[in-house]
Amino acid sequence: MIIVFGNRKGGVGKSTSSVNEAVYILNKLSSDVVILDADRQETAAEWVLEREENEINLERVQLVQKYGKIKNTINDLARKYKHVVIDVAGRNSDEMRSAMLIADVIVMPFKPSTSDFKTIPSMIESIEDAREVNPKLRAVAFLNMCNTSVTNRHEVREWREVLEEFGAFEIAPNMYDRKVYRDCLITGEGVIEMNNPQAKEEVAGLHGVIFK
Ligand SMILES: Nc1ncnc2c1ncn2[C@@H]1O[C@H](COP(=O)(O)OP(=O)(O)O)[C@@H](O)[C@H]1O
Ligand SMILES: [Mg+2]
Repeated sequence: MIIVFGNRKGGVGKSTSSVNEAVYILNKLSSDVVILDADRQETAAEWVLEREENEINLERVQLVQKYGKIKNTINDLARKYKHVVIDVAGRNSDEMRSAMLIADVIVMPFKPSTSDFKTIPSMIESIEDAREVNPKLRAVAFLNMCNTSVTNRHEVREWREVLEEFGAFEIAPNMYDRKVYRDCLITGEGVIEMNNPQAKEEVAGLHGVIFK
């Protein structure tokens, strides 16, 4: 499966969710997986480095870095690995567009905020453009960094309804704002290797929708 984590926005959790999906595939499916880091910010690549340097012996995640038009690279990787997880920059980049031409699924985190939701129509347009060449492309979206406080439950539900109303996405369970997601980028771990049952459930929930 070729899975691209993309969005026109930065800072929404693409890199965080992509590395967590890679660890999930590795640990729970015992399947071979490679991360293609196609963002010059190198968040996923740095995470792989931290993972290798971590004192706990964490199973190695394969990494390739490549920028620009990455379709051929993805093709090559898909021949070698069962699963390719691609992390792209937070804009309508060459990397995002070329990955969408070949991916099975694009996964889009959105923060529950007006400025994030404003990018949704242009994201839908990009998906429709890609489908002219790649009709199999699925689109999965989810709310990320939702406020955990009970008083915000209603607001989170409203944002989710708005996301559903676009009628353009398969919607995965919400991910909440949790320290463990920030920590995993620092330690090179996946959330499922750490000690937060709720976050583990969220990562499993997203995986379930991607692999439905
Ligand atoms: N669910 C979450 N809870 C808390 N922090 C998060 C969550 N998802 C992402 N973050 C943090 O937000 C920041 C941006 O996330 P990142 O994955 O780098 O976004 P992107 O790749 O879309 O730019 C990082 O510091 C990351 O640790
Ligand atoms: Mg990123």
